[in-house]
Amino acid sequence: MSKAVLHKPVPGVSSNQSVATTWPLSYLSGFGNEFATEALQGALPRGQNSPQRCPYGLYAEQLSGTAFTAPRSANRRSWLYRIRPAAVHGPFQRIDNGRWLSRCGEVVTPPGQLRWDPLPIPALPTDFVEGMVTMAGNGDPTIQSGCGIHFYAANRSMVDRFFYDADGELLIVPQQGRLRIATELGLIEAEPQEIVVIPRGVRFRVELPDGASRGYVCENYGALFRLPDLGPIGSNGLANPRDFLTPSAWYEEREGRFELMAKFLGNLWSAEMDHSPLDVVAWHGNYAPYKYDLRLFNTLGSISYDHPDPSIFLVLQSPSDTLGVGNIDFTVFTPRILAMQHTFRPPWFHRNIASEFLGLVHGVYDAKAEGFLPGGASLHNCMTGHGPDTQTFEKASNADLSKPDYLTDTMAFLFETRWVMRPTKFALEVAQPNYLEVWQGLKKYFDTNRQ
Ligand SMILES: [Fe+2]
Repeated sequence: MSKAVLHKPVPGVSSNQSVATTWPLSYLSGFGNEFATEALQGALPRGQNSPQRCPYGLYAEQLSGTAFTAPRSANRRSWLYRIRPAAVHGPFQRIDNGRWLSRCGEVVTPPGQLRWDPLPIPALPTDFVEGMVTMAGNGDPTIQSGCGIHFYAANRSMVDRFFYDADGELLIVPQQGRLRIATELGLIEAEPQEIVVIPRGVRFRVELPDGASRGYVCENYGALFRLPDLGPIGSNGLANPRDFLTPSAWYEEREGRFELMAKFLGNLWSAEMDHSPLDVVAWHGNYAPYKYDLRLFNTLGSISYDHPDPSIFLVLQSPSDTLGVGNIDFTVFTPRILAMQHTFRPPWFHRNIASEFLGLVHGVYDAKAEGFLPGGASLHNCMTGHGPDTQTFEKASNADLSKPDYLTDTMAFLFETRWVMRPTKFALEVAQPNYLEVWQGLKKYFDTNRQ
């Protein structure tokens, strides 16, 4: 295993040459659309995918995100027209995986409730890939099922190093600091309360316009995230398709010494390149990165009584092989109005066959009065009891229901998965020691004489 290629000074390449921030941002609207975009006029071949000679001397290359034979409604692929094919790079060598893990069975998984404070911003220069810390995971990238749940904390932009993940697509949830992600298919910028999805295999680097940055990543080993069916909700609501934004084609033509990192079967690898891999001048297809502003989510809920199941807040779903059961459900708890009558309005106490990793991007979560900080997280695994803390229960049980509750300062989310999540050794070591205390004050009210 070699670490030598990491962060070696690269002679002859000024870091200023790689700053993508000089390029304007341009997006295409819609979820999973068949896009067609070119950074140079005429770069897209007309009428076919692979002509004998492509315009401008470009190479044609297909990037497949689903099986060739997947049903048309689920089939995802894009055609890329690039300066050099993706195959042009040096040999891969293993590098240190750091704290990015894919098989989380290193320690016994306890059934208890777990909660974490935010990860500190590193003291040393750390980029997005180096700053990845796995908190929990399940399944296995070798069989393309399950997920990895990570925190990231970084303070250095990636300049001459690039990365792709062959193990899964990356759902990135910034909590502090903007991310400017230069990908093969274009530039994406996201701030806290927005999300970015980078498909499996797409090469990119991450710049940090605000310096210190922190957030969450769900590495989805399974089926691609898609919009959920809406059933009786109808044809609109929840996350509306047109609010998903995919970047227009953009490229850089840079020569020099670069590093291409890959995550493959749980390990990190590194290869040298003599050019930037972000050299796609034009592309068309429906397999591409995208962003979404969680503040645009059309939140629905009860206008009569009782709190519905939180699946009503579903943004994206990675289905499993079992109908209706998600490999991963990404759910968001946005600002909203609670007006249900004769109802306990916060989320109820419950146990769940699915496992729930809850994060907080902004503000306060309505079922926890304290101890759950923006940038922090909690994990309630299969059949582990959880729900509002004592303070929240007392307040909501005695609230004046004649008036609605306006939840205005909140943005929490859930990575929910059908497979039990296995916290890493690190995650167990840094978990809050007294989380269980939040329920210990719940009093016994049982009284056979009380109505
Ligand atoms: Fe829950």
